[in-house]
Amino acid sequence: MTFAANPRRTSHALTQIAPDVAPLGTGGTGAPRTAAPLDVRAWVAEIAALTQPDEVVWCDGSAEEKQRLIDEMVATGTLLRLAEDKRPGSYLARSDPSDVARVESRTFICSRDEADAGPTNNWRDPAEMRVELDEVFTGAMRGRTMYVVPFSMGPVGGPISQVGIEITDSPYVVVSMHVMTRVSAEVLDLVDDGHQWVPAVHSVGAPLVDETGTRHDDVAWPCNDDKYIVHYPETREIWSYGSGYGGNALLGKKCFALRIASAMARDEGWLAEHMLLIRVTSPEQRRYHLAAAFPSACGKTNLAMLQPTIPGWTVETLGDDIVWMRPGPDGSLRAINPEAGFFGVAPGTGVETNPTAIDTLTHDVIFTNVALTDDGDVWWEGLTPEAPAHLVDWQGQDWTPDSGRPAAHPNARFTVAAAQCPSIADAWEDPAGVPVDAIVFGGRRASNVPLVAQATSWDHGVFMGATISSERTAAAEGAVGELRRDPFAMLPFCGYNMADHWGHWLRVGASLDADKRPKIFQVNWFRKDSDGRFVWPGFGENSRVVKWVAEQIDRARGVRTDSGAVTSPVGLLPAPGALDVTGLEISDDDLAALFAVPAAAWRAETDLTAEFFDTFDGRVPQELTDQLERLRERLA
Ligand code: GTP
Ligand code: SPV
Ligand code: MN
Repeated sequence: MTFAANPRRTSHALTQIAPDVAPLGTGGTGAPRTAAPLDVRAWVAEIAALTQPDEVVWCDGSAEEKQRLIDEMVATGTLLRLAEDKRPGSYLARSDPSDVARVESRTFICSRDEADAGPTNNWRDPAEMRVELDEVFTGAMRGRTMYVVPFSMGPVGGPISQVGIEITDSPYVVVSMHVMTRVSAEVLDLVDDGHQWVPAVHSVGAPLVDETGTRHDDVAWPCNDDKYIVHYPETREIWSYGSGYGGNALLGKKCFALRIASAMARDEGWLAEHMLLIRVTSPEQRRYHLAAAFPSACGKTNLAMLQPTIPGWTVETLGDDIVWMRPGPDGSLRAINPEAGFFGVAPGTGVETNPTAIDTLTHDVIFTNVALTDDGDVWWEGLTPEAPAHLVDWQGQDWTPDSGRPAAHPNARFTVAAAQCPSIADAWEDPAGVPVDAIVFGGRRASNVPLVAQATSWDHGVFMGATISSERTAAAEGAVGELRRDPFAMLPFCGYNMADHWGHWLRVGASLDADKRPKIFQVNWFRKDSDGRFVWPGFGENSRVVKWVAEQIDRARGVRTDSGAVTSPVGLLPAPGALDVTGLEISDDDLAALFAVPAAAWRAETDLTAEFFDTFDGRVPQELTDQLERLRERLA
């Protein structure tokens, strides 16, 4: 476990703080179980003085607290209670139509030196940003309740875990944090003991009392057109303003567990990645742990809950979005899922595509921006093959199948506890994590990228991860479908210079025992033919690729002696017959198309990669520019 200094003071004036001020808890939950550590209390008082809420409530993560907040939100119209006989314990939230996804254009990395944020991040000078935020947050919570939410990412006190405290004026955020993280007063004890912690301040930016003192009515989904998602990686602080949605507001997730944690991980020798985590068991009962990085809305939840179509193989879920990995004492790479729930994409989730998710969502779910059925249940595109004759859409409007618009927002999501997933692995809460055997990189690529390829070395694998491109999805604002670079699926989530992130991966790999170092693969479920049809059936059939990955690990360990792979310019591909397609109706032409490596198109990609590397001003590690040169030679 690491211990570090307490977080730096913010720039805000401390004038209204008495150093020995009692906990400010005046709400239903009262003061924390143990007296909150002084610096936390001082920080809370400081934020309260800045944002001027009506009251401050310290949260303890209890079921009573969650239900009380839910009942309040049902009363105010923020949450709609779904029919108890259809979805017990479940609710629907409809966001403001302008607040439906992450806002990458308003996400800032405020490192002292601009080069430390790198060309893929929006950089702002930290001192200037503090001045700007001081203004924005002044009075931001007037008329509202300010909640103090102590949370742990990973099992409380675990060796790979970290803690934070989110201050928020959104009860929807508090309830979502209950599901997505481990909210607990015990976190304050850890902080008291000197454990490093991440302060995270969030406001929806919609005060109910204006400057003249006039009180206004609240709306179901308060937010502000002006948004800020701000990170200070050096002082490990988060400030978020103006949005109540997902990764913008649940600050334990992308802001902490990826952007801030990636910077901590760089400094402390571990990895914080946008990955799912699964345990695969073969018919021989051999176990493999796979961590896979796919960009947003590219199939992590699906693969995390995979139901293999091939007999004898099982997949258990450990995580669906974020993985923290640390070299273990035995020379292996140990991984945990720092989250406690799933915030998953609803559209496209159905019994055909993800039956495990459907079984997870039968009770105690918060749905956001899905459609409402006439009998008080939910619906979204892809839940059933045919849409109901009448719905209320995600914006609260009447909807029929001929309305000509989607009933659910494409980035509609469910928030649900991981523990109620039928495929959750026993080990999912093991604080020591699981040993990673394979790292998989993926993206949405209609062309060029084969169904699966294996890297020939760790460095080649890091090169694969660094050069991933993917078509944009609805998980963030912007043009859906546009191809963009998304190295390590971390483009919007790396809290420091992406080229340094690659260098860090090279170093971590070198620190692992050679025989325990994970093998690296690249996959692409999304290759299309000239008619725009997906060539690979995907979903449960992806187990065939997982099986080949597992068998390649066996071969590397000498458990199997047959040859499973052939070389190609872009990596090792399954040898003829090595990918198990028994029982799958796929033509030889389609199979060949899935593995085609068109040299001219790949040469063009290498030119684009060279241009991309050039944007890093010489910071790209030599190992990766070497890899690019060798790829060019193989394609020549
Ligand atoms: P974030 O939560 O945004 O990080 O995304 P995610 O990577 O967890 O995405 P998710 O698993 O929810 O997948 C989103 C979309 O990808 C859904 O519409 C799925 O139907 C689709 N999808 C997932 N797996 C496959 C596949 O194997 N083939 C095809 N064609 N689509 C898939
Ligand atoms: C993603 O966009 O990658 C997500 C959803 O996992 S959010 O939490 O909103 O970032
Ligand atoms: Mn994600």
